[in-house]
Amino acid sequence: MRIISNIQQMQALAITLKREGKRIAFVPTMGFLHQGHASLLREGRRQGDILVLSIFVNPIQFGINEDLDRYPRDMERDCRIAAECGVDVVFTPDAVGMYPPGFQTGVTVRDISLPLCGASRPGHFDGVATVVTKLFNIVQPDVALFGRKDYQQLAVIRRMVTDLSMPMEIVGMPIVREADGLAMSSRNAYLSEEQRQSALCLHRSIVIARKLFSDGERSADAIKKAVLETIGQESLIMVEYIELRDGNSLEEQEIVDNATLLALAVKTGQTRLIDNTVLGEEL
Ligand code: PAJ
Repeated sequence: MRIISNIQQMQALAITLKREGKRIAFVPTMGFLHQGHASLLREGRRQGDILVLSIFVNPIQFGINEDLDRYPRDMERDCRIAAECGVDVVFTPDAVGMYPPGFQTGVTVRDISLPLCGASRPGHFDGVATVVTKLFNIVQPDVALFGRKDYQQLAVIRRMVTDLSMPMEIVGMPIVREADGLAMSSRNAYLSEEQRQSALCLHRSIVIARKLFSDGERSADAIKKAVLETIGQESLIMVEYIELRDGNSLEEQEIVDNATLLALAVKTGQTRLIDNTVLGEEL
């Protein structure tokens, strides 16, 4: 496994590999890897001749009062997990290399970036779209893998790749959960034992919503009410949003269907957690 921090070196390697006819699979991350990331890496290993993992805590996708400075990092452990998953190249650029003085270009994906996390984190998806475009240009993937844990992010990336004719395939992977249902996240490291227990209400409410739907409930309001009641029982959890939207367009829906996305965002203490499900999708 090679570790490359230099952008030009990574790009030159990618161009050489492509000339040799190699298929490059790419998993972009911010590190502090867990089994969610590992599931993307294992699928990437299957799909590509060469598997590239990037680890870069992207400053431009964090708001001013967010957790950029305390975002968890553990390069040694990340490299161990990467090696176990069969990664060929770990790309670890630094912020000055990615955004040198004079940097002034951004990628905006309009409508689909606006609701949900886009509403609570203004500019967040501009930061994501910009860094992912830049990483794609450096790593030159044939296939890039993203988790459905960040459902809207995946939708934004798909839109961007289609709209800008980026020559690659985007693969969306299922949410990986802890045994008790908590969706894996690097940010779970922030949680106290008490907060972590409270956070289980996210998955609990998803199970309830899915049951209501499979029993025939089609009113978005009724499902939202049941979710709010479940989450509302936890005094440590503050709801940021509970929304039911079309899983493709992310437009609001009053009557739900198989493709409806239930998207949740909450805060416990300073920690922001998200989770989601597509009501009619098999798990
Ligand atoms: P990060 O939060 O590190 O996530 C990297 C990838 O892992 C994303 O595609 C995310 O959806 C996926 N992932 C995280 N938790 C998961 C889980 N429990 N199950 C399945 N997949 C999971 O998302 C980012 O980084 C950044 O925004 C990035 C795309 C790297 C741009 O900076």
